[in-house]
Amino acid sequence: MEAISVDHVRTLYRKYESDLRAVRDAQRRFLRERGKAMKAQLDDFEAELTYLLLRDLRPEVVVEIGTFYGWSTQWILSALRDNGTGHLHSFDIVDNVVRNVPPELSRGRWTFTKGDVREHVDKVPTATTDYLFIDADHGARFAHWYIENLFPAVPPRTPTSVHDVFHGRRPKPFSEGSVIVKWLADNALAYFTPSTAKAPEVARQLAAVKSELGLDEPVRTSDHNPMIFFTLP
Ligand SMILES: C[S@@+](CC[C@H](N)C(=O)[O-])C[C@H]1O[C@@H](n2cnc3c(N)ncnc32)[C@H](O)[C@@H]1O
Repeated sequence: MEAISVDHVRTLYRKYESDLRAVRDAQRRFLRERGKAMKAQLDDFEAELTYLLLRDLRPEVVVEIGTFYGWSTQWILSALRDNGTGHLHSFDIVDNVVRNVPPELSRGRWTFTKGDVREHVDKVPTATTDYLFIDADHGARFAHWYIENLFPAVPPRTPTSVHDVFHGRRPKPFSEGSVIVKWLADNALAYFTPSTAKAPEVARQLAAVKSELGLDEPVRTSDHNPMIFFTLP
């Protein structure tokens, strides 16, 4: 994956504008219909960026750890549907997602495994993974686990994202975020974040791109966007 920059993201917003508009409308409708029964976690920039990167990279095998009610799952599956190719392997201890994801979106392109991913590593298609999405346990121990067990097992240069890192200018001490940010620094790896707390100028520029394209009506009103995006060594 190319290093992500605001310019690259702007190009992707322009290139996939009409498909993205349709997915945003579908996601907004879905949230409205489910009301309080749907707990969505990803904010708009990070959800859209995930969709746009998946459109651009056209992965065959995506791994998602942490589905909860399936908000990110639906964004990812929508990108695979719009690509016309690719399979998603999702993992979570709870299986609310199974009831939420519409069969027409998941059919033929989704495998869900219920349970602690650390006890189901054999089900993670590490050898063929070409996009890794992590939004699960936010403790330091879990970050050490995937750094030691998943990162070395997936192919070199796998595009990866981790949620809940930058709710503030720095990750919380002893959190997953602090472990992954230190690991990236130790390995001299760059990351991109649309976090309003960490990168307010990036968030402002992305808001301007969306406004220019008429994509500024929020899908969700929460706008922390704490996710980081990077490429493994
Ligand atoms: C923040 S939620 C995920 C939100 C979801 N990605 C979204 O966009 O709405 C975190 C999820 O990770 C799951 N989880 C936590 N530890 C896990 C583990 N060790 N293995 C698998 N799933 C785990 C939790 O059950 C929870 O549903």
